Amino acid sequence: MKVIHTIGELRQALAGQAARGFVPTMGNLHDGHLALVRQAREAVGPQGAVIASIFVNRLQFAPNEDFDQYPRTLARDAELLEAASCDFVFAPSEQELYPEPQGYKVTPPAALADILEGHFRPGFFTGVATVVHKLFNIVQPSVAVFGKKDYQQLMVIRRMVAQMALPIEIQAGETARSDEGLALSSRNGYLSAEEKEEALRLSRTLKALIAGWQSGRRDLAALEAEATSHLQAHGWAPDYVCLRRRHDLGAPQAEGEPLVALAAARLGKTRLIDNLEV
Ligand code: PAF
Repeated sequence: MKVIHTIGELRQALAGQAARGFVPTMGNLHDGHLALVRQAREAVGPQGAVIASIFVNRLQFAPNEDFDQYPRTLARDAELLEAASCDFVFAPSEQELYPEPQGYKVTPPAALADILEGHFRPGFFTGVATVVHKLFNIVQPSVAVFGKKDYQQLMVIRRMVAQMALPIEIQAGETARSDEGLALSSRNGYLSAEEKEEALRLSRTLKALIAGWQSGRRDLAALEAEATSHLQAHGWAPDYVCLRRRHDLGAPQAEGEPLVALAAARLGKTRLIDNLEV
């Protein structure tokens, strides 16, 4: 496996390689990322090239967020990626990826990008779509794998690829969880041992919300308010806890539609997100 820091070197290394499986990350990797890398390997086969990028993308962080604290653990990440049969790690510097202020941006439609995560993190999806589009141009993958843990992000990327006619197959990777059910996240490292235990409540609250719906209740606002109050009563500061249609994250309209329950909430200083498909 090679660790590459420049666009030119990566393009050279990939020349002549048609099957390229790509996993973009911000590093500080956990088993969830490594499962995406293995999925990319499955997709391109033993002769294909698997590329993971590691880049903490300033564009998707608001000034009050954790850009500076975000752990940079390249040496450890590279070891993990090598063991997961990755071929190339693309780890550009900020100067390499953004040699001048990024004036050209990809702005996803507000109907998808300004709700839920986008409502609480204004500009987040523009930052994500811009860097992912740029990374796609650099890596030119045939397949790219994104985790369902970032459900709305996956939707934003899928739509971008479709609308921009990018010749890339987007695959979704299932959310990796601890044995107790905590969705793996690079930000779990910010949690104390006590908070880690409490963090299990997030997926349990989503399960209870889904159970309420499946029991036949249709007072969605009340169900969501109960879930929110439950988290608040245990010291959380929820941004949203809700049940949405899978295909556009709008409110459920018709019986039998595929749904997803989504939540984002702060526990102490750490903001956690999770979702469960119904
Ligand atoms: O999901 C992430 O880690 C980031 O949002 C991504 C897709 C690597 C873009 O910076």
